[in-house]
Amino acid sequence: MTETGVDALRRVPLFVGLADDDLAAIAQAANEVEVPAGQLLVQPGQAGTGMFFIVEGTAVVETKRDHVELGPGQFFGELALMKPDAIRTARVRAQTPLRCLALDRASFRGLVATHPEVAAALIEVALGRLAENAGIDDD
Ligand code: CMP
Repeated sequence: MTETGVDALRRVPLFVGLADDDLAAIAQAANEVEVPAGQLLVQPGQAGTGMFFIVEGTAVVETKRDHVELGPGQFFGELALMKPDAIRTARVRAQTPLRCLALDRASFRGLVATHPEVAAALIEVALGRLAENAGIDDD
């Protein structure tokens, strides 16, 4: 992919510490996704086909309890990829025109298999989100 993909991934806190070659491999595996404001990207109950890293714009996650805004450097769609038969836990909609890098399930599996530190950071974020949705976070 172009340098733009690597530059975008360098701003993702999850990837802090990864070498440029690793970022290039992730960028190579990713697809650019651009959607207009208002478009639904993820629907609750659907099977998870991929996860998204936001490059530009904001998305809103609509959980049963709350609306959470996510912006550049943040990601969504990871939860339904962490188990083979898991389904989407929330609705995600573009709040503004949105540009993302998307990783499909196979690339996600490759990423966590080759980068345990990324897997550990992902688990931490995922647990925080599940706790928040269950009302057991301490915020
Ligand atoms: P997934 O379940 O695959 O699809 C919906 C996504 O919304 C989910 O993955 C998370 O990425 C995201 N999500 C769910 N709950 C929260 C939350 N409380 N805060 C931020 N993002 C969330």
